[in-house]
Amino acid sequence: MSDIAFTLLKPELDNASGTALWIADENLLNQTSQVNPDVMVITNRFDLCQQLKDASWQATFSDFDFSHYNDHSVDKMLYRISKEKPVVHHVINQAIRILKPGGQLCISGLKNEGIKTYLDKAKKLFAGQIELVKADKNTWMGILSSPGKADTDFLEDQNYTELREVATDSNFSYISKPGVYGWNKIDKGSAYLIEELELFLERLPTPPESVLDLGCGYGYLSLNCSTLDAKITATDNNSAALRLCKENLAQQGVEADVIAADCAEGIREKFSLIVCNPPFHQGFSVEGDMTDRFLNAARRRLQANGIACFVVNLHIPLERKALNLFDSIETIAANGSFKLVLLAQPQ
Ligand SMILES: C[S@@+](CC[C@H](N)C(=O)[O-])C[C@H]1O[C@@H](n2cnc3c(N)ncnc32)[C@H](O)[C@@H]1O
Repeated sequence: MSDIAFTLLKPELDNASGTALWIADENLLNQTSQVNPDVMVITNRFDLCQQLKDASWQATFSDFDFSHYNDHSVDKMLYRISKEKPVVHHVINQAIRILKPGGQLCISGLKNEGIKTYLDKAKKLFAGQIELVKADKNTWMGILSSPGKADTDFLEDQNYTELREVATDSNFSYISKPGVYGWNKIDKGSAYLIEELELFLERLPTPPESVLDLGCGYGYLSLNCSTLDAKITATDNNSAALRLCKENLAQQGVEADVIAADCAEGIREKFSLIVCNPPFHQGFSVEGDMTDRFLNAARRRLQANGIACFVVNLHIPLERKALNLFDSIETIAANGSFKLVLLAQPQ
């Protein structure tokens, strides 16, 4: 389905020249535009980066890292806004630093995503130099021209680039940052899975020798499985998640493979234990098929006598979705919000 906010940005993207950057996140998956060889795409999503490279775009996979762009070195930036406020503020702040005086930042989005507020704030930062374009009453784009330096204080981006300790429990302390799922807390579903991990492990004939953390985020499940004396592999699609997972494991002296992949695609190994708290949202939309994709990945990567441990919200019909993928499906525990589902005997 085409995204109207992206449609507004498209002519600007097609015509961009000089040093031009397109900041692309998950909302742009499967959105097409003709390749502009002058434009460098920066994306924090591994799947999108692959998709764009396959289509011959110049694309880099990073946590929206602009540190190697010198001050006032870029002619144009194009950005369809992201879901998280610190990410949007980070991009706008970086734009004022790296754009040449008179260089342009084009940002688009929908009213219910907060585009109007972002444009108001950006307008102040850019000394009022803005041109507005509307596709309809809900879809806006602002073309901001850089005055060369910020006219007011930078927008609050919660120190986007800084790693910090965000949570501690009786086992570990966790380092995180904005730009990754649930960045400043321990996910309640994942905590429940770890609390009850023993219920899963007792179903294995022997202690697991290899663990796959599928959709690892900042590494909560990996860290809590690191006491199992098994080889840990963690994978995610998000650049910040991978960096944080590596950092959290390194801080505890845990050696592990941390792999960028879209639903474990490209990972060939099979594992005796898979732990997973699958994502529910993709960009601004709720994607039912994310659960299916994670279940399929677990089926492909599970050893014949291994087990996969999933935690999901009670309302997700995981057991039904797993029916044609595993011969053994069992809900082994539930609380008021989550259920823990054991999957074994992959088909
Ligand atoms: C609900 S979070 C769980 C994070 C972490 N395991 C935890 O327990 O805190 C789901 C994770 O899946 C990741 N994810 C989303 N889409 C993905 C994809 N296509 N491939 C791999 N990981 C993905 C997200 O980046 C996020 O880190």
